[in-house]
Order: sequence, then structure tokens, then C-alpha cells
Amino acid sequence: MRPIVIAANWKMHTTPADAGPLAAQIASRTNDPDVVRVICPPYVCLATVRDALAGTGVAVGAQNVHQDLAGAYTGEISAPMLAGLATWVILGHSERRRDFGETDELVNRKLTRAIEAHLRPILCVGEQLADREAGREAEAVERQLRGCLKGHDGGLLEAGLVIAYEPVWAIGTGRSATPANAASMSELIGRVLDETPLGVGRGTAHSVPVLYGGSVTSSNFGEFMTEPGVDGALVGGASLKPDEMAGIVARAGVTARARRDAAG
Ligand code: PGA
Repeated sequence: MRPIVIAANWKMHTTPADAGPLAAQIASRTNDPDVVRVICPPYVCLATVRDALAGTGVAVGAQNVHQDLAGAYTGEISAPMLAGLATWVILGHSERRRDFGETDELVNRKLTRAIEAHLRPILCVGEQLADREAGREAEAVERQLRGCLKGHDGGLLEAGLVIAYEPVWAIGTGRSATPANAASMSELIGRVLDETPLGVGRGTAHSVPVLYGGSVTSSNFGEFMTEPGVDGALVGGASLKPDEMAGIVARAGVTARARRDAAG
């Protein structure tokens, strides 16, 4: 059974002074053993968040990683540097694609680095508004996914790969996709993954959780969780609010238990 995952993407918010207390508050308000919880603060807050989350069961993730191991790259952070600080990493977020020119080819290299460093990757894909308006959203997402995974013919399942489907037009806009949008994209993602050698053969892609991201709140998240292909969320704005996170994780827990019961 695929785990239900709720990942918080704090983006460029919080400081080392306030990140620890916020993380601790979120952890205590979301204590549900059936939901995998991850908090991804800015790099400079990783240590304080790690310490605040010790013993809570909430994992720490980074929001990005460089594609090389070391070198003259001012201001960058490599995967080996995250040892002891983070166990997950977000890759290919649309804001990085948009603002820092990240391509599928680059994200593909970052994925290699993440896997080598035993960081569990949350790989983000999602179409632009223009793609959706032109009816080409499936094509866009398929191209991204294939580009990012190309050549990764092993180890992705062992690495605990998670895919986040985040339509760009829904991120930070207050305009979420419909649950049906997310469900059909999850199906497409499953099909593409099935065609990729994931290291343990075809048909195993179903162990890869597919999250939805884009203006998720505690009020709209329930609709997404009724879709069997949606296995949780990557939450941006709402993830900075303990009340919101409490509602989202509580709803995720309901689905986790319902799916477990249904699976017998
Ligand atoms: P949002 O961000 O929830 O603020 O739309 C989601 C994301 O960028 O991961």
C-alpha cells in the first residue's frame, strides 16, 4: 500500500529563530501514525527544525539540492552537505524551474545526487496555464516526467520516490485544480512510471505515492483525498499555519485508515 504523505514546503519563509517553535507546534498538532509527515524549511533552518522535530516522527526535507557534489558554485548547497540535516528533498519545483531556469535535464541530475545521498526525493511536475488552456497538460507532464527520470533505470523505488503533481497555475494562487484534474494526472503519472524501468520491474510504479500540490488548504484537501490516485499533498502557504496543517493531516489520516481497512 502506498503511504499517505503530507509535505510542508515553507519556501523562503521562517528564520532560525522562529522555525523551531513552528515546527514543534505543527508536529504536536499533527500527531498521526498513519500519515508520513515532512517539513521542508529553508536551508538555514534545517538544523533548528531537525532538533525541534527530534522524536516526533516528522521528517526534515530540503527544498532543493545542487546537481554537482562540490565546486565553485557560490551560494549553492550539495547533497552530501545535507547529511545529518535532512532525509528528504524537493526537486524540480516549478518556482525553481521558473525563477532559476531549472530544466528536466538538470532536475534529472539532481535526482541522481539525491539518490546517492540517500535523500528521499519529492519530484515535482505540473503544466503551465498555457498548456492546460491548449489541452496539452498531459503531454507537458509526461514530457517532464520522462525527462526527469530518463536513465534512472534503477533505485527509484528503493530511494522512496514520491511525485508531486503541481499545476503551475494553481500554486500560490488560491485557485486549486479540481480533484478530477489531480486524479487523471495521477493516472497518467502511474502509466508513465509503469513504462519506466524502476529497478524492480514493471507494475511496481504503484508503490510511488503521487501527491497533489497547489493552493491546498484544510477546507479543500478532503475532496482530493477522496480520489484513490491521490496519496497526499505538497502544501505551500497553508503549511506555515499549524491550524491548517492540523486539519490537513487529520483528513489524510482518515483516508489512510479507510484505505487500509479496504485493503483488508
Ligand atoms: P501553495 O504552494 O500551497 O502555496 O499553492 C504549493 C507548492 O508550491 O508546493
